[in-house]
Amino acid sequence: MAKPLDLPLLLIPVMVVTLISVSFAQTNVTSGASVQAIAGAGWSSPSGHFVFGFYATDGGLTVGHNGDGDVAAMRDDGNFVLYAANATVAWSTFAAPTDTLLAGQDLAPGAQLFSSVSATSRATGKYRLTNQLNDGNLVMYPAGTMNVAAAAYWDTGTFQIGFPLTLRLDASGVLYLVGNNGSYTKNLTKASAAQAVEQAHYHRVTLDPDGVLRSYRHGLLSSGGWKTDVEWIGPSDRCHVKGACGFNSYCVLDRDAQPSCLCPPGFDLIDAGDAAGGCTASSGAGECTAGQRADPGSSMATMQNVSWADTPCGVLAAGTRAADCQAACMSDCFCVAALLDTNDGTCTKQQLPLRYGRAGGGYTMFVKTGGAASPALGGGGGGNHHHHRLRRASTVALVCVGLLTFVALVYIRPRWSDIVKIFCCLAPVVFSLLFWEGFSR
Ligand SMILES: *[C@@H]1O[C@H](CO)[C@@H](O)[C@H](O)[C@H]1NC(C)=O
Ligand SMILES: *[C@@H]1O[C@H](CO)[C@@H](O)[C@H](O)[C@H]1NC(C)=O
Ligand SMILES: *[C@@H]1O[C@H](CO)[C@@H](O)[C@H](O)[C@H]1NC(C)=O
Ligand SMILES: *[C@@H]1O[C@H](CO)[C@@H](O)[C@H](O)[C@H]1NC(C)=O
Ligand SMILES: *[C@@H]1O[C@H](CO)[C@@H](O)[C@H](O)[C@H]1NC(C)=O
Repeated sequence: MAKPLDLPLLLIPVMVVTLISVSFAQTNVTSGASVQAIAGAGWSSPSGHFVFGFYATDGGLTVGHNGDGDVAAMRDDGNFVLYAANATVAWSTFAAPTDTLLAGQDLAPGAQLFSSVSATSRATGKYRLTNQLNDGNLVMYPAGTMNVAAAAYWDTGTFQIGFPLTLRLDASGVLYLVGNNGSYTKNLTKASAAQAVEQAHYHRVTLDPDGVLRSYRHGLLSSGGWKTDVEWIGPSDRCHVKGACGFNSYCVLDRDAQPSCLCPPGFDLIDAGDAAGGCTASSGAGECTAGQRADPGSSMATMQNVSWADTPCGVLAAGTRAADCQAACMSDCFCVAALLDTNDGTCTKQQLPLRYGRAGGGYTMFVKTGGAASPALGGGGGGNHHHHRLRRASTVALVCVGLLTFVALVYIRPRWSDIVKIFCCLAPVVFSLLFWEGFSR
């Protein structure tokens, strides 16, 4: 007998099937039936390979939605279906996409998968896979971004195709796009060969919490155990996932193709215990005060063959030489780094935060590693900055005192003797603030 809980992810409600397929055996659940809310409890399909029920998560127990259908069924394709009285499907887990597609389940035009927060927390995570309705492209983005090319980190290149596409996984594990009434198909993965030691195999495609789409094969062994393999991943280089590393850090693949996050020269981890949490400038580069042009004390480090999100604060035309690109950033105190496209010599000046960094990609980055504005080095820049902040604080304090006084006068209507007392108490504060305001101008 199978152990259904070996496949907890197969229980997660997913995508679109609107017709009742008679080819799958099903366990009928009649109206009024109930299932106990304990981990592992649920309605099993006839094969026992799929269960609609409860599984343990970080936040306690989780279950697929319930509804008002007259009869429900847990089918052997993994779809949990609620039927209306006229035997049409009122609701199904296949029609409610989260992070997974099962065989036979479609990601319809315009629909999205969202990654989970983690393997044990099924809340919406950081990434999405979008089947774009407008152009037919299937694209991965960080969850909080617009559908723009600059935010995309993987796509099938099926844009401008002229008709919407549906993403589908078949029972042999082929993930493919289909459109124009079946006349167009594009296979993203290959069929998975049957293996002699297996009684059956199931496939699923999940947008995992790390932003990678993986095709899984779950083989049911003669012993009754399950064997799980990853057969395909997209993107193949996990460092291409935008957001794999935090701000101001870049991603490098180690020997096992695992991503790790590093800080560029002149930057340190924000939290030494959290490599993915991003880096912060240890040099104070990019902190400028009005009128300051160059950072006299700063120097530049060079990183070859890297790539970063290009959010330029200044562009030098194609054909710029490395030395000129470096000099352009050096003479601009707002410039933290310069990116030189080694193909065409376009040089762009960058500000903080630097995002989506990774090794590879053919850019050279020149990054400032020190400067007059550095708190560590002291200097006029840092001092002015401090001065400016104090003055702003004193202005805010004055406004607050004024407002409080106004409110007190209007709503509390104190007697004159009280006003005099309050004024005597506040006077030293107000006068010192006024003095500081005048002094600092
Ligand atoms: C479940 O209900 C369907 C539709 O009414 C029926 O055809 C099927 O035989 C039932 N299956 C079982 C195992 O009772
Ligand atoms: C079946 O019932 C549902 C819900 O009552 C209704 O929306 C749908 O139109 C009906 N379909 C048919 C074919 O009668
Ligand atoms: C789609 O293909 C089916 C089967 O080949 C055919 O019966 C149907 O008319 C086609 N629909 C359209 C809109 O072309
Ligand atoms: C796509 O996959 C299907 C199903 O395995 C196969 O029949 C077809 O030949 C494949 N197409 C290409 C172009 O590889
Ligand atoms: C650039 O980096 C990538 C990934 O680290 C590597 O595969 C490639 O060979 C490098 N290219 C050059 C010219 O160093």
